[in-house]
Amino acid sequence: MKPEAQKATISVPDLPQEGYEALDKFIAASAGDESALISVLHKAQSIFGYLPREVQLYVGRKLNVSGAKVFGVVSFYSYFTTNPVGKHVINLCTGTACYVKGIEPVFDKFKELLAVDNGETTPDGLFTLKDIRCVGACGLAPVVVIGDKVFGHVTVDDVEGIIEQYRKADQQ
Ligand code: FES
Repeated sequence: MKPEAQKATISVPDLPQEGYEALDKFIAASAGDESALISVLHKAQSIFGYLPREVQLYVGRKLNVSGAKVFGVVSFYSYFTTNPVGKHVINLCTGTACYVKGIEPVFDKFKELLAVDNGETTPDGLFTLKDIRCVGACGLAPVVVIGDKVFGHVTVDDVEGIIEQYRKADQQ
């Protein structure tokens, strides 16, 4: 086999080309090497919403950084996600105060009604469930955060209403 035929091409069929163009612009304005890796990954996640393997390889190639190094950075920082996230990320605080005040049954109710597990996204792409650490609102425990809205003293009975509130807002 000719060496040319072995060259790996990076196929990115599912992600918008404009996203790559925006990322290229950002990279061109950066140092363009390993020192820019984290900021470029941040930018890539803000563009695509997550960092699939293809994007990680793309960034590595552009910055001349090995795929292994990029994967290492992405898995080290919890901020980075390699799974697509929904339009609304439902963050459930599992810090001590929220745990003691009953976040667990609330979490279970979200899982049941949305039929997804922690870290997963509903098939319609509307919701992602995610556990988070203390957000500093322990007086309101148990706490659920969606976007910039904080729901305090959440009970199992509140869960359906919270979900419906976002579903309805989305249909308008
Ligand atoms: S433990 Fe949940 S807000 Fe502090």
